[in-house]
Amino acid sequence: MKKIIETENLRTNFYTYEGVVKALNDVCITVNHGETFGLVGESGCGKSVTVRSMMRIIQSPGKVESGKVLLFLDENGEQEAVDLLQQSESYMQSCCGDQISMIFQEPNAALNPIMSIGEQVAESFLFHRKKSLSEASLERLNAQDCKVPFKGIFKNLYKKYHEDENAFVFKLLSHIPLLNRWDFLIRQEAFKRAVEIISKLGIPHAEDIAVQFPHNLSGGMKQRIVIAIALACSPMLLIADEATSNLDVTIQAQILELLKDLKKKHISSILLITHDLGVVAETCDRVGVMYAGSLCEVAESRELFGNPSHPYTKALLESVPKFHQEGALKTIEGNVPNLVTPPAGCRFHPRCKHRMDICDKEVPNLLEIGKNHSVACHLFGDK
Ligand SMILES: Nc1ncnc2c1ncn2[C@@H]1O[C@H](COP(=O)(O)OP(=O)(O)OP(=O)(O)O)[C@@H](O)[C@H]1O
Ligand SMILES: [Mg+2]
Repeated sequence: MKKIIETENLRTNFYTYEGVVKALNDVCITVNHGETFGLVGESGCGKSVTVRSMMRIIQSPGKVESGKVLLFLDENGEQEAVDLLQQSESYMQSCCGDQISMIFQEPNAALNPIMSIGEQVAESFLFHRKKSLSEASLERLNAQDCKVPFKGIFKNLYKKYHEDENAFVFKLLSHIPLLNRWDFLIRQEAFKRAVEIISKLGIPHAEDIAVQFPHNLSGGMKQRIVIAIALACSPMLLIADEATSNLDVTIQAQILELLKDLKKKHISSILLITHDLGVVAETCDRVGVMYAGSLCEVAESRELFGNPSHPYTKALLESVPKFHQEGALKTIEGNVPNLVTPPAGCRFHPRCKHRMDICDKEVPNLLEIGKNHSVACHLFGDK
């Protein structure tokens, strides 16, 4: 199966006054082409830090210490791996939104309150699709019905823009009042595409919505707009970090249905982060279970729910309320470890019922125990 992105032994620390928080400990995740990969685990286990490290948006005092984040790009029919951790800031800027997009839990934080919805979606096209926008604007200028004064000047400008959008003349124009909106046709085209993508996300009256501001919309609607921004340039991978956790269950179901639908048509893969195991069972092809900064089990969804193997996964599944629940709900005894002084060996061993001598001495490796099923537990090791 073709890979889209892969992390190799990703290690991230936070340098706090209390000490060094060892948030990620050799995380290895692979997301394949065409799949929805779910990342689950208790709050604080490192799901967000994993994807933030992948996209290099870890905030201070955090630092990615080691590892690789390989993005697989198709170059002339061959797959080429690019280590995102070694790329420049400008590479990351052009990659985010174009090849990889991210959506977060809080749509209000992602939207600009003083920009109209349409303008915010259009920004994505203006940043990543300048060439195709200038091409479309040139076509409009060549059409008979486009009545623009000084058509010839604009044609030359758009042609030049198509060839080199960073030319000196455009930098100069952007500093001259009145002339700095010379690209109005390009902006119009971007706005038109923004309206199209908003209506594709099932929002009625997209033209009217596009001129509204974020405070005019409901939470579910805002999250759809955030998804529209993320999908504007048809990325290969969409990373959704608790994207539906803030919404009520009906809207949550609608958004998940929308993501499923979009995966078929527009994006190839989704990395879905959630602590809702129901959402995972419903939407994901493969699942990775995280505990205290490490991946403890990776398997296909059916296999994971039918045959959970790591003691933590088993305990996690047992702690989900069932429809025909009898007796008290089981919980996982003990507490999530302090990551400044994480337990030695397997980080789950202080809470594990199957603890052995080796567990507090050696870190278990993620071993394949079946088809597409890997577990990091000494119960499955050869020792
Ligand atoms: N800014 C920070 N400063 C210090 N430690 C941090 C910071 N951000 C994250 N951490 C540490 O990293 C660990 C993982 O945090 P992360 O946000 O990835 O958890 P999560 O699995 O996404 O949880 P949730 O489900 O609540 O979103 C936390 O336990 C915390 O110790
Ligand atoms: Mg999180």
